[in-house]
Amino acid sequence: MKTLVIYTSKYGATEKYAKWIAEELQADIKEGKNVSSDTLQGYDRIIFGGGMYAGSINGIDIITKNESILLGKDLVIFSVGLLDGSKTENQPGLQESMERNLKKEILEHAKVFHLQGALEYNKLSFSHKMMMNMMRKIIAKKPAEEQNESDRAIVNMKQNPVDFANKKNLKPLLDVCK
Ligand SMILES: Cc1cc2nc3c(=O)[nH]c(=O)nc-3n(C[C@H](O)[C@H](O)[C@H](O)COP(=O)(O)O)c2cc1C
Repeated sequence: MKTLVIYTSKYGATEKYAKWIAEELQADIKEGKNVSSDTLQGYDRIIFGGGMYAGSINGIDIITKNESILLGKDLVIFSVGLLDGSKTENQPGLQESMERNLKKEILEHAKVFHLQGALEYNKLSFSHKMMMNMMRKIIAKKPAEEQNESDRAIVNMKQNPVDFANKKNLKPLLDVCK
């Protein structure tokens, strides 16, 4: 099946996953900004990945602008964020984010995954540092036992960069593609 992996990545976690997928499936790979509707037409399967920022999937407009083309193709969508998508307790929240980002028709058609990414405070842009500092203040007020893995990563982001991106996280996604 002729497959194109498309990614939009600010700090590299989504790009890392996209490259692993393309390698594993021997697929073509392109950055979202370099993909046109005509490019999509040339493939049987599209795999799109974007980093999660304040609940929005970076670069998702490539999907929303090309719904009619994509409904006729095999479609896999993955978001990359701090939460671990393999944990049951994270799934309702991640599903809600997907529902905010994508129309029902596309969500029902696509196979959707959430992969765990990375956070390195020193590499963030100025505006992202500001946003994360604000989030950190809010999260730090939660009792420690109510903080999830993502909260803890944010609270400790200045002293502890985290990188949860791991090839193993791709197994469920690759399984549906093989
Ligand atoms: C400003 C900002 C907002 C973020 N918002 C979310 C979020 O809403 N949900 C989430 O799971 N991760 C969130 N993250 C974490 C990123 O999704 C994570 O760092 C991911 O690895 C980014 O992928 P990329 O480097 O490929 O763009 C946020 C990170 C930053 C810097």
